[in-house]
Amino acid sequence: MGAGRKISCLSLCHLVAALAFSHMIAVFGAKKQLRFGQNGQFKILQVADMHFADGKTTPCLNVFPSQMRTCSDLNTTAFVERMIRAEQPDLIVFTGDNIFGFDATDAAKSLTAAFAPAISSNIPWVAVLGNHDQQSTLSREGVMRHIVDLKNTLSQVNPAEAHIIDGFGNYNLEISGVKGSRFQNKSVLNLYFLDSGDYSTVPSITGYGWIKPSQQFWFQRTSSNLRRAYMSNPEPQRGPAPGLVYFHIPLPEFASFDSSNFTGVKQEGISSASVNSGFFTTMVEAGDVKAVFTGHDHLNDFCGELTGIQLCYAGGFGYHAYGKAGWSRRARVVVASLEKSEKGDWEAVKSIKTWKRLDDQLLTAIDGQALWSKSPAGGRRKKHVVGA
Ligand SMILES: *[C@@H]1O[C@H](CO)[C@@H](O)[C@H](O)[C@H]1NC(C)=O
Ligand SMILES: *[C@@H]1O[C@H](CO)[C@@H](O)[C@H](O)[C@H]1NC(C)=O
Ligand SMILES: *[C@@H]1O[C@H](CO)[C@@H](O)[C@H](O)[C@H]1NC(C)=O
Repeated sequence: MGAGRKISCLSLCHLVAALAFSHMIAVFGAKKQLRFGQNGQFKILQVADMHFADGKTTPCLNVFPSQMRTCSDLNTTAFVERMIRAEQPDLIVFTGDNIFGFDATDAAKSLTAAFAPAISSNIPWVAVLGNHDQQSTLSREGVMRHIVDLKNTLSQVNPAEAHIIDGFGNYNLEISGVKGSRFQNKSVLNLYFLDSGDYSTVPSITGYGWIKPSQQFWFQRTSSNLRRAYMSNPEPQRGPAPGLVYFHIPLPEFASFDSSNFTGVKQEGISSASVNSGFFTTMVEAGDVKAVFTGHDHLNDFCGELTGIQLCYAGGFGYHAYGKAGWSRRARVVVASLEKSEKGDWEAVKSIKTWKRLDDQLLTAIDGQALWSKSPAGGRRKKHVVGA
């Protein structure tokens, strides 16, 4: 009897503790510290160009005629759900044209529906703006303000410390090392998110928007602070932690490649701004950025390396976005892996890999490739005494 009571008290205490804990997660879950898991990996799912509109009444574009009758925005939703289930990412990043404003009757409703699979997965997610998100009932600021109020998002309208900055949805995220490891209080992987604008507002310049000096100043300051922190106590490192950058409109430098030096395909031109903002050079100069991920050109899905930075497209995702019948909608996955010490503890990031998955029956994975790996010289390896 006594023992029985004791057991039930124990399980009751457990239950109370579990409820309190799950409540804490519910309240603070969205703001929780991102960190590498006990498997030493951090996985990011990139969803580009959902072009969501009104849901089941919104038809698909560029599918075979025989597929039209049964195809709508709900196919885009189903693809997000399948990708989340298959990859179980640690973070989901939506890189703009999340909704196709012209065809969305109510921007707030459309955004909420577009992100619904991410929201209900309980996985942290973020979004940046494309050039079509503001073409419904909300301004760019309004869209970003709606997004940051949705559940489980780590998106921010703009950084608190930047008093003047162009655009909406410029922010960064820090991913800490494994809990209990020497790197548990250090950001070992840095993510930057920027608003690449929509269209030029300068009469003498035509075409798409670009990343403005105010945003580049913010990036420079943020990158510099992160580099300094990583290379200072505790556990000072010799080089910066790798950084990944996400935004919508590709940079002019995406046109530096052909099939001899990229992985993936290029089936249309590079729709960057008609001017060069200098952001590529700014990133090269900062020195921590290893890869840039954009969307915008749905028929391009390649990664190519220029001056030490991988420039990657995700490929078109949404069914109410232009595409190509018979060329599957797709998504990009990135996984960063940590190095293990001789004692078996997880340390800094050792490599960053990527692949894409197609929306076919098997969610076929294609184009697996290494984007970056830590050079032995940059690490804290034991010095081997040569000769002597
Ligand atoms: C869209 O979803 C419907 C319902 O699941 C499915 O029957 C159809 O094949 C899908 N269309 C495409 C183009 O994937
Ligand atoms: C990390 O920070 C926590 C809380 O401040 C501290 O207790 C712990 O010792 C620190 N660990 C390392 C490895 O720096
Ligand atoms: C890719 O190869 C082409 C020649 O086939 C060359 O013109 C171009 O500069 C190369 N790009 C890079 C980034 O190496």
